[in-house]
Amino acid sequence: MKTFPKDFVWGASTASYQIEGGTDLDGCGLSIWDTFAATPGKVFNRDNGSVACDHYHRYPEDLALLKNLGAKVYRFSSAWPRIQAEGTGPANSKGLAFYDRLVDATLEAGLEPWLCLYHWDLPQALQDKGGWANRDIVDWFTDYAEIMVRALGDRVPRICTFNEPNIFSLIGYMIGRHAPGLTDERATLRAIHHINMAHGASVSAMRAIAPTIKYGIIPNLHPMKPASTSAADAQAAKDMDVLWNRGFRDVLIKGEYPGQLAAWLQEKSGAVQAGDLQTICQPLDWIGFNHYSYNYVKANPEALFGVELVDPPAGSPVTDMGWEIAPSAFKEVLLQMRDEFGNPELYVTENGCASADVLVNGTCDDPARVDYLRQYLSVASDAVAEGVNLKGYLVWSLLDNYEWSYGYSKRFGIVHVDYATQQRTPKTSYRFLQNTIAAQAVA
Ligand code: FCB
Repeated sequence: MKTFPKDFVWGASTASYQIEGGTDLDGCGLSIWDTFAATPGKVFNRDNGSVACDHYHRYPEDLALLKNLGAKVYRFSSAWPRIQAEGTGPANSKGLAFYDRLVDATLEAGLEPWLCLYHWDLPQALQDKGGWANRDIVDWFTDYAEIMVRALGDRVPRICTFNEPNIFSLIGYMIGRHAPGLTDERATLRAIHHINMAHGASVSAMRAIAPTIKYGIIPNLHPMKPASTSAADAQAAKDMDVLWNRGFRDVLIKGEYPGQLAAWLQEKSGAVQAGDLQTICQPLDWIGFNHYSYNYVKANPEALFGVELVDPPAGSPVTDMGWEIAPSAFKEVLLQMRDEFGNPELYVTENGCASADVLVNGTCDDPARVDYLRQYLSVASDAVAEGVNLKGYLVWSLLDNYEWSYGYSKRFGIVHVDYATQQRTPKTSYRFLQNTIAAQAVA
């Protein structure tokens, strides 16, 4: 039996654009995902978030599902375009009122609301000015963060600035598979630096307003594996590690950019100015990380930074996303946080898998997800026993939802959503997690 400490925190994570819908209601502005989804060839079926899971109206039902799960935490994100349709200027009171209602309802359900300020839905008006590649975004984001903390800071115990800064910078500006769909080295480097700056500047500003809130950030951490035994692939894996894992985590914790990234920023970006690292490196009260798998990396002189992500080796066990099921990768990250990064207060803020779940006679059985969760939760329990300062686990995700460029074709929820009727049906994995939480142990 793999057990968890009594005070181990359980919950689920969601993201505004992936579940809320109502993107044209109450003065909400256009986001880069609306634009990206409408661009031919970018998103499966040209699906968009205009309705999604209709969480904008159905959040009471969703909170009840979380409560019934036995969760303690609901991590959600606020949509910047709901608050400032054009990304700057006075707050939209109707947009704020939604998060006000959501936070109150979360508390009434006995759950802690953990607010994430940015889960990728940038106001399109700011993208039109260069988005994260424009240094002015440090001030734009800080203004938005101040609005949010003034409105909700009396009720939210934790705030996270960015969900996966590494993913929306690299996949959005370097690989081009996420909004805004760029493939541009200089813009990628500038985005990395400005996101780090926006994190540091906004945390200082928010702390001045609400000093007792615990501030953190949530990178995605995936160990890199070279695609072959060649020296070139080994180097590519190291370079990708620097871009993906170290570009945010290391600078935030250690106060400097790791070797190769420092050189690239210097040579290619023109972004780093005197004093920036002091702005960036604010004390973190906690760190969340999202984790799914290993990444396989191949050297490719034609690709940006000479690196390319490739599929796992043929025959590897994979999820419906094609991501390798590899609990050893999860263990690696957990031990690395203990050994190399000072064992900070740590939360797994996303973990889970996609599977092609179907509803049959009103039930949804998802044995692949149960199996995945069992393996990964066993690793989490082992890590705690081995002294990793891991305090909680939030599953991705509560509901099936809009999976970015895959549209609605991938299902990550522990609750099935029938998009035609908006009917929610807890899956077998929901019961599994419910039992795990009740027992504080993985059966
Ligand atoms: C993470 C994202 C989340 C979801 C999962 C599957 O990278 O943070 O929104 O798409 O992957």
